[in-house]
Amino acid sequence: MSRIAENNQMTGSPWKTLYQPVANEMDRVEGILRREMRSDYPYVDELVQYGALLGGKRLRPALLLLVAQAVGTTNSNHLVLAAVVEMIHTATLIHDDVLDGAAMRRHLSTVNSRWDTDASVLLGDFLFTHAFYLASTLDSTQACQWIGRATNIVCEGEMRQKGSRGQFQLAEHEYFEILEAKTAELCACCCRLGAHFSSVSDARTEQMTEYGRCLGIAFQIADDLLDFTGDESTVGKSLGTDLAKQKPTLPVIHALQVASGPQRRAIIAILSNPQEGSLKQLCSLLRDQDAFQYVRDKAHQFAHQAGRQLEGLPDSPARKTLQRLTELVVQRCY
Ligand code: IPE
Ligand code: IPE
Ligand code: MG
Ligand code: MG
Repeated sequence: MSRIAENNQMTGSPWKTLYQPVANEMDRVEGILRREMRSDYPYVDELVQYGALLGGKRLRPALLLLVAQAVGTTNSNHLVLAAVVEMIHTATLIHDDVLDGAAMRRHLSTVNSRWDTDASVLLGDFLFTHAFYLASTLDSTQACQWIGRATNIVCEGEMRQKGSRGQFQLAEHEYFEILEAKTAELCACCCRLGAHFSSVSDARTEQMTEYGRCLGIAFQIADDLLDFTGDESTVGKSLGTDLAKQKPTLPVIHALQVASGPQRRAIIAILSNPQEGSLKQLCSLLRDQDAFQYVRDKAHQFAHQAGRQLEGLPDSPARKTLQRLTELVVQRCY
């Protein structure tokens, strides 16, 4: 348990500071996660605690609670649902690290590298199923329905991405559709749940859902840029895996759209046969096309669109944090 205390408090993290308006609720959500993420069997217990409790920005539970508070008041349903969405998110990351062959996650070895693929598959399953069990303990079945649909869309997005590997001619709109599915759908769902369980109008719930969707797209665009330009020890996860796994992301898609013949051929040569040292070479070619600035501008556009959804909400610390999040999700890729 001591490692958990060390690693999951995000001490000094700008994210944790930002969550101040819902700090008490976030502590209670950690309590639910600690209570639920355990097993009587020592091997399982170690795996579950390591894979599901350590680290992470806790962005999805924070979104759910901040939206709940920005439009009304948080209640016990929100706390359970915040734990549920974090379980789902963590399950997708554990499975995603297998797909990406990643070695580091949340500043620790991934489950697939510390244990193996079998352990990752099973732990992901454990988290998915426990999340739905927990969501089913609420009086209403509405949350289960929305979370089930959103999780299904996330998995579909991950599968579409798998299907697009090596297809560097992927259209920009298809790239955005994949992002919307694999990342933004869960963020949107968190905001929908936060608003709905605060008993606001359907129109307000839709507005908050749209906030989450746009924020999620901006977040993933920035994440895809970080995969090229980020520092692993700062970001806390393996980077460069998009190139290694030949995932077409926006910097590449854009550069191939604007590059001249010889430059295009040079980019495609690297993408088709990634090796040691390829990342640096590719970054230089992408910079020549101003691809990174183009990507940042796109992230800003979605973040701005997210911010617009907050118009009309009463001024409050929670609303300020939701606004600040629209800046932070893009700033992290500078
Ligand atoms: C990682 O999400 C997966 C993406 C959508 C890019 P986070 O960056 O929120 O991961 P944790 O929860 O902080 O580890
Ligand atoms: C996966 O995207 C996001 C999920 C929905 C699981 P990435 O593959 O870019 O996420 P990271 O970079 O591994 O966190
Ligand atoms: Mg990944
Ligand atoms: Mg990534």
